[in-house]
Formats: sequence, C-alpha cells, structure tokens
Amino acid sequence: LRAPGSTLDETVLRDALAQFASGVTVVTTTDGANEPRGFTASSFCAVSLEPPLILVCLATDAECHPAFAATQSLAVNVLRAEDEAVAMSFASRGADKFAGVAFTLHSEAGVPVLHDALATLVCRIADRHRGGDHVILVAEVIDAHADGGDPMVYYDRGFRRLAAT
Ligand SMILES: Cc1cc2nc3c(=O)[nH]c(=O)nc-3n(C[C@H](O)[C@H](O)[C@H](O)COP(=O)(O)O)c2cc1C
Repeated sequence: LRAPGSTLDETVLRDALAQFASGVTVVTTTDGANEPRGFTASSFCAVSLEPPLILVCLATDAECHPAFAATQSLAVNVLRAEDEAVAMSFASRGADKFAGVAFTLHSEAGVPVLHDALATLVCRIADRHRGGDHVILVAEVIDAHADGGDPMVYYDRGFRRLAAT
C-alpha cells in the first residue's frame, strides 16, 4: 500500500478493482431516432427498496452516452453464464449490438428488453450525477421480472461461472 498523498498507479488500481467479482448486465435504451442502444455494464448496483432505486455508471466518452443523456428510461438486463458473446458485443464500440439478439420494446417505457435475460429491471431515470469520467445514472424501477438460472460472473478480467453447490 502506498503512503497517503502519493500518486496512485493506474495498473495498481485496475488490479485491485479486478479482484471484485460482479454480475454482468446489458443496459439498454432507445435513442432519438428510435434505434435501440446499449452497453455492457458491471457497475450495476441496487440502491434502495423504498423507493425502488438502482444505479449504473456509464463512461462519458461512450458512443451511447448521448442516447442515455437524452432518454428518460433504461432497462438493466442481467446476463446468463452462457451470454459471453452478448457481453462482448455490447462492450464493442461500433458493433451491430442488437443483431441476433431477441428483444421487445417495453410497452410503457419503450426500452429494449432482452428475451433471454436472467432478469430485467425497467426503469425511469431519477438522477444523473457526474462521477469523474463516468455519469452515475440513478433510476427508479417501474417493472421487473426474474427468470432465474446461472448468472454470468466477471472476475479478474474474465467471465466466470458460479461453482456448483
Ligand atoms: C464485463 C464488462 C463490464 C463493463 N462495465 C462497464 C460499466 O459499468 N460502465 C461503462 O461505462 N462501461 C463498461 N464496460 C465497457 C463498455 O461496455 C464498452 O466500453 C462499450 O462499448 C461502451 O459503449 P459504446 O459502444 O456505445 O461506446 C464494461 C465492459 C465489460 C466487458
């Protein structure tokens, strides 16, 4: 560990953050031209039950950032263990992200809901906070469903599965 006040090495920071295991989500919305947009996110976090709030952090230099800056709604789609190709596609700038992915637009919010997700939370954006080079989107859950199954786990820069119990 470094002394207080010393400059933190980015590699050290990344190595430390990589030790935190998380689930993986695809966060979706619809842009001004009614096109589906989305990105892979591990920064999803539950915030509050009453009111029901979640958060997700999006890089301000992401191509989809303007779409999320303009929209009032988003969906958090929790990925299954076998969804590695979906996770990589939605993490690839310029990819045709929704090609081959079955989805429907939510009847009320108009955001893409992925059919095969482990769970989906449809949300209205309640607050936007600047967090360094990311924006923290705080959103109120207006609809949710859970299918259940094997979750995708992201740990030490790789996609993992939970060990069978
Ligand atoms: C497992 C994983 C988790 C990620 N989590 C986030 C995240 O929480 N926030 C974020 O802004 N980017 C995250 N990314 C990177 C974005 O998915 C990627 O940069 C994406 O291409 C950004 O959207 P764009 O294609 O519109 O630029 C993650 C990537 C991976 C592979």
